[in-house]
Amino acid sequence: MAEGIDVDNDRLLIELGAGTGSVTQALLDRGVPVNRLIVIERSEVLVRRLRRRFPLVTVIQGDAAQLSALLGEQTQNICGVVSSLPLRSLQPAVADAIIAGILEVLGDGGRLVQFTYDLRRTSVPERPGLDQISTRRVWANLPPARVDVFDYRPTEDANSATEATC
Ligand SMILES: C[S@@+](CC[C@H](N)C(=O)[O-])C[C@H]1O[C@@H](n2cnc3c(N)ncnc32)[C@H](O)[C@@H]1O
Repeated sequence: MAEGIDVDNDRLLIELGAGTGSVTQALLDRGVPVNRLIVIERSEVLVRRLRRRFPLVTVIQGDAAQLSALLGEQTQNICGVVSSLPLRSLQPAVADAIIAGILEVLGDGGRLVQFTYDLRRTSVPERPGLDQISTRRVWANLPPARVDVFDYRPTEDANSATEATC
């Protein structure tokens, strides 16, 4: 999942559903600056663990469906979202709210990395402006998973598309 991100030292990267922090660690190992990573996790227990493990990372406890409210003023400068949320197994209305919130904070040119255990279908339902740029099956994961990378360009003029970086 971390390989889906091109590090941007100036803008913020959001991780959703960080759990025990394996993806968080991979993002830091990839070079995401510790002060540019914001992690959101719903479980209080896991948030305590994340804060102990990553004392310099901003860890916010809350529901990703309330993304923009959780981020407050920090919604302005976001280059990407890396999500381990189980989107395909959530109630469709909840998943829709989460995806809408992600796209709202991403803005034009943002990147979304999402994984799924459903190897056949894309991890995120189609949305205008959301282009899947890669997909990769990770057989070594237990169970095997699939990582999808999307770029979001809601106002894209095909001739002026620039490479998304994060
Ligand atoms: C598949 S696990 C994440 C695995 C993670 N990469 C790790 O290293 O542990 C999904 C995580 O998403 C969290 N989660 C589920 N729904 C959420 C929501 N609506 N908002 C925030 N976190 C949520 C769960 O508490 C869980 O920790």
